Amino acid sequence: MRILVTGGAGFIGSEYVRMLLQAPGSTGPTDPHLEPSAVTVLDKLTYSGNLQNLAPVRDDPRLRLVRGDICDQALVDEVVAGHDVIVHFAAESHVDRSISGAAPFVTTNVLGTQTLLDAALRHGTHRFVHVSTDEVYGSIDEGSWTETWPLAPNSPYSASKAGSDLLALAYHRTHGMDVVVTRCSNNYGPYQFPEKVIPLFVTNLLDGGTVPLYGDGGNIRDWLHVHDHCRGIAMVQEKGRAGEVYHIGGGTELSNKELTAWLLQACDAGWDRVVPVTDRKGHDRRYSLDISKIRLELGYAPSIDLERGLTQTVQWYRDHRAWWEPLKAGIEPAVAG
Ligand SMILES: NC(=O)c1ccc[n+]([C@@H]2O[C@H](COP(=O)([O-])OP(=O)(O)OC[C@H]3O[C@@H](n4cnc5c(N)ncnc54)[C@H](O)[C@@H]3O)[C@@H](O)[C@H]2O)c1
Repeated sequence: MRILVTGGAGFIGSEYVRMLLQAPGSTGPTDPHLEPSAVTVLDKLTYSGNLQNLAPVRDDPRLRLVRGDICDQALVDEVVAGHDVIVHFAAESHVDRSISGAAPFVTTNVLGTQTLLDAALRHGTHRFVHVSTDEVYGSIDEGSWTETWPLAPNSPYSASKAGSDLLALAYHRTHGMDVVVTRCSNNYGPYQFPEKVIPLFVTNLLDGGTVPLYGDGGNIRDWLHVHDHCRGIAMVQEKGRAGEVYHIGGGTELSNKELTAWLLQACDAGWDRVVPVTDRKGHDRRYSLDISKIRLELGYAPSIDLERGLTQTVQWYRDHRAWWEPLKAGIEPAVAG
């Protein structure tokens, strides 16, 4: 099986590539026939793409790296040829950046996805896995979204992801393409670019600095370890039904204030290190996914509880200053998402 992973040098895509290549059978595909004979990473290496994320598998002869843009039709056509499966992670992914400027989000997330879908259609790719987000549903005060819930995105980021989800599903309905869509909750874990809330807070605290807490800190997110997310994607890649959407969640909801309290404790810091900042425009109050479908159909359950996952993640950032210090030197200090 030849797998093309777009955005494979980013946070989640690189975990997927490491998982596919490192430990077949245990953490990767459950069906040995689905172990990859080749994995191609197509990545533009934007600010959040980093070849260091692939260092553990760099010497694997099955891995090929192509630096390029998913909007580049000629390149995409050439790269897609010969692959059985596309797992599509490449995206502009940070809500705050989409508020400052939406154009790259529409270009990469919508046009880039359409460019890939067209190439997959031309080349008869067997399966297209489109990786998306719970943010496409907007915000929910009580209860949890099921996969049939109407889409009501509130940020330019989530609107562009909703557009790409609908395009992917339309290629299934219109052309009969084998497309599956996953929507997950907030990911955390190693190799996450330090603009997102957990690595931003942890690295600021490890540096002796302060952390910016949006609004009243009452926004609630479900936290999912990146490895559990990738296990769920692998199950969907192998066994998901064409044309279907599958939720992948972590099962632990925390308010930003609760998360902050946890991170302060893990970094031996107090509330004097927290600086309240004006709330994000259009900030969704709560996200919550119902994951019954993937649990019942594919046997998915999160395996890493939040306390263990956060402890390991904080330790990873303690141990990998050489990875994040150069990245932090180049980003704005007050963004958190
Ligand atoms: N991080 C989360 O909590 C989360 C939650 C839900 C869904 N998602 C989705 O998962 C996917 C991966 O997210 P992530 O957190 O790993 O993001 P990331 O920003 O860490 O990685 C994105 C990768 O895509 C690459 N990329 C960006 N534009 C590209 C282009 N035009 N052509 C080729 N490559 C390009 C970047 O270089 C980077 O390597 C995204 O589709 C995102 O919407 C993420």
